[in-house]
Amino acid sequence: MTHETQTARPLTAKRIAALSGTARIPGDKSISHRAFLFGGLASGTTRVTGLLEGEDVIATGRAMSAMGARIAKDGDSYLVEGVGNGCLMEPETALDFGNAGTGARLTMGLVGPYDFGATFVGDASLSKRPMGRVLDPLREMGVQVVARSRDRLPLSIHGPKVAAPIEYRVPMASAQVKSAVLLAALNTPGITTVVEPIMTRDHTEKMLEGFGASIEVETDKDGVRHIRLEGQGNLKGVGHFEVPGDPSSAAFPIVAAVIVPGSEVTIENVLMNPTRTGLIETLLEMGASIEITHRRKSGGEDVADLIVRHSELAGVEVPASRAPSMIDEYPALAVAAAFAKGQTVMRGLDELRVKESDRLAAVAAGLAANGVAHEEGEDWLVVTGDPDGRGYGGGTVETHLDHRIAMSFLVLGLACEKGVTVDDGRMIATSFPEFVGLVQALGGSIEGVSG
Ligand code: S3P
Repeated sequence: MTHETQTARPLTAKRIAALSGTARIPGDKSISHRAFLFGGLASGTTRVTGLLEGEDVIATGRAMSAMGARIAKDGDSYLVEGVGNGCLMEPETALDFGNAGTGARLTMGLVGPYDFGATFVGDASLSKRPMGRVLDPLREMGVQVVARSRDRLPLSIHGPKVAAPIEYRVPMASAQVKSAVLLAALNTPGITTVVEPIMTRDHTEKMLEGFGASIEVETDKDGVRHIRLEGQGNLKGVGHFEVPGDPSSAAFPIVAAVIVPGSEVTIENVLMNPTRTGLIETLLEMGASIEITHRRKSGGEDVADLIVRHSELAGVEVPASRAPSMIDEYPALAVAAAFAKGQTVMRGLDELRVKESDRLAAVAAGLAANGVAHEEGEDWLVVTGDPDGRGYGGGTVETHLDHRIAMSFLVLGLACEKGVTVDDGRMIATSFPEFVGLVQALGGSIEGVSG
């Protein structure tokens, strides 16, 4: 799970042909984490199909197993037998979340109110990421925290005898923070309220309701959401839970098909929850040919298949208010913007600074290494595109243990005659282990670099 001790695996992508064919997208990472967390907590059994078998999600499954859940693979599905709400067991060893911020932060919330100790560790990237955003509300609920370096992993937490319910206004647009407080509320008496001024992905609210939690959401006249959860109720396994395909993974073949001339690719099973579709909306505004077909329901969510064709793009201003619905997709959008006529302006990007890497800096450096004109600000990025971007490329991109930086710049390479190299492709396995094979099956060239 932790890649620091192994050798980096550079990869190079090159332009060889148009992309064509059909790609099925693996399960959504956010929903897969929650399927293990909620299935592992609820009493009874949940059969999870379509789960993302990425390293991040597997780490969450291991953590839940270490606290008493029983998780077994059964053919194409996972059988998750939960402990019952309030009945997690003290883990005997440290919980290792590898590269996964979502797994670490949501699990901190989940175990925070328990009157036992739990230690959280992760890789070099996760150990740099801020945990205070989750620990601060947990402290208000009575949780004690011991960290070597302030609010960074490795750290240990210990819950109080009885946790206190709080009303918490989430200070930044973060589904992880909202979710951590709601998960802490599950084992806290009384009603905990999360106030969310800017809506973020709502998988936690929807799934907790499905698992039987007593949760209600009210949106006030200013659009602020008030999410109330009554703690210490029963959660029950849902029998069967289907994980829809991940729009954040779909972003890579979508952008590849849009920028590689002559391409036409069908991408199946993409989650279309409006809190996740900002990239598709933006690409459509830029003039991308994306047909949304076969809309249906899966796991209580809207999903669809997308037919994506090479398109002439025009730069747009992406409103800051759209950032939460495409927060993980800006690196891929920056690559699409490199092929658009004119400027694409992206604002409200402050949260990109605290992802698996400082993504704003990593994207800017990757664009610079490959000849793409751009300007980086504190929380904004402007890319000036060249519709005939064949001359881009030839650079090596530093990925800083960030899967989305690696995949985005490999996608850039698919449209450049000189190709693009990323210094390390190992992290791709955290969210999209099938990525290289899937691109190759569509006719794209991605190869390991020897030496
Ligand atoms: C996630 C929320 C987002 C996102 C991450 C997954 C989640 O993080 O970037 O990949 O599953 O709740 P933030 O809450 O930090 O914005």
